[in-house]
Amino acid sequence: MKRSILASVGVTAAFAGAIAIATVFSGEAPAQARKEAPLYLQGAASVAPWKRYSDWPQRDMSKFNTLAKLASPPAPKEVRKLTGPVTGDAANGAKLVADRTRGGSCLACHVMGQAGNADLPGNVGPDLSEIGNAGREDEWLVNYVSDARVYNPETVMPPWGTHGLFNEQEINDMVVFLKTLKAPAKFRAVLDDPTKRPAPIETRDNLDDLQNPGMWAVERAQDLWKVNGPSGSSCATCHANTAALKTWAVAMPKFEPRLDKVVSVEEFVYRHAKATTGADWLMQSNENTALAVYLRFIANGQIIHVDTTSPGAKAALARGKELTARKLGQLNFACLDCHDPAKGGLKWIRGQWLGEQKGQYDHFPTWRTSLQSVWDIRKRFQWCQVNIRADELPPDAKEYGDLELYLASVNDGLKMSVPGIRH
Ligand code: HEC
Ligand code: HEC
Ligand code: HEC
Repeated sequence: MKRSILASVGVTAAFAGAIAIATVFSGEAPAQARKEAPLYLQGAASVAPWKRYSDWPQRDMSKFNTLAKLASPPAPKEVRKLTGPVTGDAANGAKLVADRTRGGSCLACHVMGQAGNADLPGNVGPDLSEIGNAGREDEWLVNYVSDARVYNPETVMPPWGTHGLFNEQEINDMVVFLKTLKAPAKFRAVLDDPTKRPAPIETRDNLDDLQNPGMWAVERAQDLWKVNGPSGSSCATCHANTAALKTWAVAMPKFEPRLDKVVSVEEFVYRHAKATTGADWLMQSNENTALAVYLRFIANGQIIHVDTTSPGAKAALARGKELTARKLGQLNFACLDCHDPAKGGLKWIRGQWLGEQKGQYDHFPTWRTSLQSVWDIRKRFQWCQVNIRADELPPDAKEYGDLELYLASVNDGLKMSVPGIRH
């Protein structure tokens, strides 16, 4: 009995569908019955299993948090008591605070008197040149350097001791050195003073191919557009011109119900090409990046505006926002520690200026002058993790989709300007 009711419902639905289709096709503008873009829904959209770029640091950081898992050791619950005054080697301490191989060490964020008188110190943290006069207890200093979270859960400073960047004696050596700091820093040159160093301003014309070699991607994509894939068709077979695609990229990334994740231009290019032309243009391959540049290039000048209202998008946005605050890797930094002006943003970490999130998205993929290559946003995400000693995720990771949607929403209202050009 039940079964026949269901069957008849099915039939009715099928009829209703037929009528709806008939209505659409009898209308004047069948083009408005917009088809869903075909997507290849199986498997990964980037190299799987993902393997880190061979010219990037290969440290195994699996003991620490990533954007996909929590693994870092917990913060200490109590202050470590000292039995007497701290003892150590101040000269060794002076070396350690400047040791770049220890996660950039202290000068990355602090001016430290004579130790700050070289090497472009940063200013994410306070100037410690006179910390020796501040009347700080030895116990407080040792604990603060070892793991500042014991006093300040919101600290930006890495837990140098807990995360194994310095051992106990090395921390003591640095504290003994800090206690010798009693006079304002004297800088050799104005630029050594991070408070006087002017913020870099990008003035090159990113759409001039003489100034931006990244423009190669636009040319390459125009060629690829016409190349037949294994299925015997090319992008041009179905998209004779790009007029209909002109504003598409400004609404990307977007939540894609068929994959239950946020899909970027790059992931779309892989899955759509695979489903239509049969081309295998994995994310971060040359072809993929070229097409991703091109699809944004034709949207240049248009206003970035992503959907954040569908239930899937809303949930992804909330997850993405949360991920920007997650502490990652051995250095225990969250994206916001470096890119929120309330923390490290708009300050110097050593010689590198930390930009804020607004303005970090509109120009991706971007030409990197220092690396002579075009990076998509996922590669930038990956580097911002490997650089803080966190394991990166594969480019097509769901978490990156969430993060990218959030970043795009912060950049809402800016004009697309791709390919960008950056240091
Ligand atoms: C990523 C930036 C960063 C690095 C690297 C860093 N610090 Fe800090 N440090 C801070 C910030 C920011 C503060 C201010 C409060 C806070 O966030 O904990 C601080 C505060 C301090 C203080 C407390 C100063 C006071 O009197 O209140 C000491 C001491 C200190 N840092 C020592 C060090 C030492 C030693 C190193 C290297 C082993 C180091 N810091 C590396 C960012 C950093
Ligand atoms: C077999 C036909 C076919 C081929 C080949 C094809 N596409 Fe599409 N494409 C479609 C259809 C169908 C849509 C859905 C919207 C529409 O009708 O334009 C679409 C939509 C798109 C969109 C907009 C996405 C959206 O959500 O509406 C982009 C961008 C796009 N294609 C790029 C490409 C690129 C790049 C290639 C070459 C790798 C390509 N297409 C090859 C059929 C094709
Ligand atoms: C230790 C500090 C640090 C942390 C933590 C960090 N970044 Fe960065 N980030 C940088 C530096 C340095 C640059 C290059 C200078 C700049 O443009 O800010 C950069 C650049 C970027 C850019 C490109 C900016 C542009 O305009 O081209 C993006 C996007 C970005 N970071 C995203 C992230 C995300 C997402 C996270 C968290 C997963 C993160 N960063 C964590 C230091 C950091």
